[in-house]
Amino acid sequence: MTNTILVTGGAGYIGSHAVLALKNAGYEVIVLDNLSNGHRELVEEVLQVKLFVGDMSDPALLDNIFSTHNIAAVMHFAAYIAVGESVTHPAKYYQNNVVGTLTLLKAMIKASVNKFIFSSTCALYGVPQFIPLTEDHPQDPISPYATSKWMVERILSDFDIAYNLKSVRFRYFNAAGADPSGLLGEDHEPETHLIPLVLLAALGKRESIFIFGTDYPTSDGTCIRDYIHVTDLAQAHILGLQYLLKGGESEVFNLGNGSGFSVREVIENAQKVTGKEIKIEERDRRPGDPPILVGSSEKARQKLGWRPQYPNLEEIISHAWQWHQKRHI
Ligand SMILES: NC(=O)c1ccc[n+]([C@@H]2O[C@H](COP(=O)([O-])OP(=O)(O)OC[C@H]3O[C@@H](n4cnc5c(N)ncnc54)[C@H](O)[C@@H]3O)[C@@H](O)[C@H]2O)c1
Repeated sequence: MTNTILVTGGAGYIGSHAVLALKNAGYEVIVLDNLSNGHRELVEEVLQVKLFVGDMSDPALLDNIFSTHNIAAVMHFAAYIAVGESVTHPAKYYQNNVVGTLTLLKAMIKASVNKFIFSSTCALYGVPQFIPLTEDHPQDPISPYATSKWMVERILSDFDIAYNLKSVRFRYFNAAGADPSGLLGEDHEPETHLIPLVLLAALGKRESIFIFGTDYPTSDGTCIRDYIHVTDLAQAHILGLQYLLKGGESEVFNLGNGSGFSVREVIENAQKVTGKEIKIEERDRRPGDPPILVGSSEKARQKLGWRPQYPNLEEIISHAWQWHQKRHI
């Protein structure tokens, strides 16, 4: 049996891009996804990878997968991701993101698989005390979603000490864009991320785009965020995996672009890329939205040799636009 990488949530946005990167790097891959937000055809038809449709909270299914494959490492993308929903339905988020992940980790330990790559988030830093955010910035998550990721990070630290489970925790900033081939892209339901929402407006699938807050202390009054191309994220996962497979110790890395773009800049770039007028509606600030979130990914660059290929916002939006046009023909 060859060494296989188990990708949970591989039918979702970032997970499917990681599966493609793993395949391109020559790894054997299997996917576990309950399809609550994922797309079967992406895994089975586009990526042509074995898909287990099931839940990470199912210990019998996990035991079956681990006992029938020679799994070298797990890349764990499966989670619920909507920050707003996590505020109104925290139980759903703690159950899936924390308890589900704990079930997965216990199955790994039982099967003696001890390499784990985890999708964490810059949201665990809370309201920034300084910019750019570095990995040692204090952690003070302000939503149940972010807290669920923070809890898993704590569990991973304890599991390293007790069970020798080695993990790389990647704290993503805003994942954006789509594979340049146009094969894969972002397709969440409901969609809450700015770039796909803007592109859906450009396609006439939405009336307008809301800007929440135009009086922030930023150059144009709108919030500034760090958008990182999903293909660059996927590439970082390959480097993180190689690092663990070579015997690396547990580590945490920010993954971001290092430069921020305002909401208005994103909309202006999208108008340029699509050639469409996008209707804007200005709204009050949302509670809990910091004015600026921009990260330093120096550590990933230094320690993993990560070099993002697509830092340019226009290119990120162009790739996303290519996918959206194809998706909504
Ligand atoms: N998108 C971002 O900008 C961003 C930023 C920071 C962190 N993250 C993290 O990255 C990961 C992937 O995000 P995404 O945008 O690709 O989300 P996504 O919703 O597209 O993908 C998540 C996948 O997990 C699956 N899933 C959920 N619960 C499951 C369960 N119990 N068992 C099996 N499968 C399950 C879903 O069906 C979906 O296919 C998540 O963990 C998310 O928290 C994303």
